[in-house]
Amino acid sequence: MQPILHIEQDGDALARAAADWILQRLDASTGPFALNLSGGSTPKKLYALLASDAYRSRIPWDRVHLFFGDERYVPHDHPDSNFLMADESLIAHVPIPAANVHAIPSGPTPAEAAAAYEKTLKAFYGAETIDPKRPLFAVTLLGLGPDGHTASLFPGIPALDERKAWVLPVIGEKPPPQRITLTFPVLDSSAAVAFLMAGAEKHPMIERLRKGDTSIPSGRIAPHGELHWFMDKAAAEG
Ligand code: 6PG
Repeated sequence: MQPILHIEQDGDALARAAADWILQRLDASTGPFALNLSGGSTPKKLYALLASDAYRSRIPWDRVHLFFGDERYVPHDHPDSNFLMADESLIAHVPIPAANVHAIPSGPTPAEAAAAYEKTLKAFYGAETIDPKRPLFAVTLLGLGPDGHTASLFPGIPALDERKAWVLPVIGEKPPPQRITLTFPVLDSSAAVAFLMAGAEKHPMIERLRKGDTSIPSGRIAPHGELHWFMDKAAAEG
């Protein structure tokens, strides 16, 4: 699947381009807008920008529903928590209704947390099975790991082949190892997937993605809608 490329000067410009792109998609939509957030360090600037004076008042927060593509299995106030990162950079600073923030539970066990989140997603979607013509997410943000992982879909784990479950507990390479991840079928249920990739260390994996390498997890993302790559120059050119 051919991505639509957005190549920006640096990480700040990448965050602005992604924020403007999300705003455009919001403006072009009506009704609930499900934004599936990514963890990792790259999207932090984007979240802070969406919460800044320049953007906050232009976003219809009552229509926005925030979800998470993956979570580290730690309490929500733990420094490794993806929820905490999104809360500190974005959620705590914007007038989004609490009921529109759909965090991945941090207990009582990884399997139960995954099952509970699958229920949450299905209730929001209003169906038990995915219809390719009706994407669950308006926008899914994803990162690219140095080993090619995305969300918490790490190379070689059985969750890569899951077609039925929407959410699974997994053990990943990147610390902390115990995680909860959305699976390919549900990540692909997106009107648009945007990979945010910054820094020269991403370049070798981006080259493999460019060549269509589906042996790495991020190469297997195939959204029912559009695929966008937001990169800074360092990531795009090495
Ligand atoms: C996480 C992720 C993970 C991340 C990539 C890229 O929770 O760790 O969701 O998939 O997006 O590892 O991370 P960076 O943006 O920090 O490079």
